[in-house]
Amino acid sequence: MSDVLGYAGKRVIVSGCFSGMGEATARLLLDLGAEVHGLDFKECALPLASFHQIDLRDPATIEAGIAAIGGKIDALFNCAGLPGGGAFPPLDTFKVNFAGTRHLTECVLPLMGAGAAIVSIASTGGLGWSRRIPVHMELMQTRGFDGAMAWAEAHLDQVAEGYAFSKEAVIVWTQFSCASLIKRGIRINCSLPSPTQTPMMDTFQATAGKEVIDAAAEPLGRYSTAAEQAGGVVLLNSALAGIVTGVVLPVDGGFMGSLATGQIDISKMMRRAEPA
Ligand SMILES: NC(=O)c1ccc[n+]([C@@H]2O[C@H](COP(=O)([O-])OP(=O)(O)OC[C@H]3O[C@@H](n4cnc5c(N)ncnc54)[C@H](O)[C@@H]3O)[C@@H](O)[C@H]2O)c1
Repeated sequence: MSDVLGYAGKRVIVSGCFSGMGEATARLLLDLGAEVHGLDFKECALPLASFHQIDLRDPATIEAGIAAIGGKIDALFNCAGLPGGGAFPPLDTFKVNFAGTRHLTECVLPLMGAGAAIVSIASTGGLGWSRRIPVHMELMQTRGFDGAMAWAEAHLDQVAEGYAFSKEAVIVWTQFSCASLIKRGIRINCSLPSPTQTPMMDTFQATAGKEVIDAAAEPLGRYSTAAEQAGGVVLLNSALAGIVTGVVLPVDGGFMGSLATGQIDISKMMRRAEPA
């Protein structure tokens, strides 16, 4: 079969390649013939072209990881993430999901040329982004990792438990960056997974409540798999996606569509999480 997705021989970077969706993404890209460079906090067992240990909470490790990969990069997959909900310090969640992810992307951009693409895994948990665009636009004006963290430390009320706000920020940043990046021929998109069976799921169920998580999986009737989520991001960064940029793609078995058309009542969904 011809290489319609266009990954054969391409140099790609996957953050979060140790487990879950990042691991599944790296695996799929290897199958498609890409030269896969992995980044994670924990060592990845896949036969990658290279692996570099980074901590997305520490910009120096991000810079060292990208410098060690070097060369031309065709695609970046931002898959690493940390849950919130009190399971981790909110600012750590914000660092991993937004400040570190944006910094990583900014370190990779000088290595990208026309035709390159970036995708980040956001979340349906960030669906409140449109309610506070002015707040997010303040954050978008900040520069670098330190700028994002200074803003977050001054706005702890907005950051709250960390997860929802950081995922909203990824969604707004994706849409904000697309217009300037496409002038250089570079695309940027993000995905919104529905509940997915990965190591992160135990924390989601413990913090948000299993009933709330299950309600978001209702249209599909099950949790998605890491491989299904990998399919969404690999498609977005592929040659087939042509001029698709600034897109926030639900990979959710119909959750967002059902919500938008009133077939899932979010307030009822939240009430179900309250103790009887
Ligand atoms: N599982 C779900 O239901 C779900 C739903 C919506 C969005 N997401 C998002 O999907 C992405 C992938 O998560 P997953 O479900 O595969 O979970 P996961 O826990 O399997 O994967 C997260 C990866 O990020 C890495 N990571 C964590 N902290 C890091 C740090 N400080 N530096 C570098 N790497 C770090 C972990 O080692 C791991 O490999 C995350 O961004 C998550 O927020 C997950």
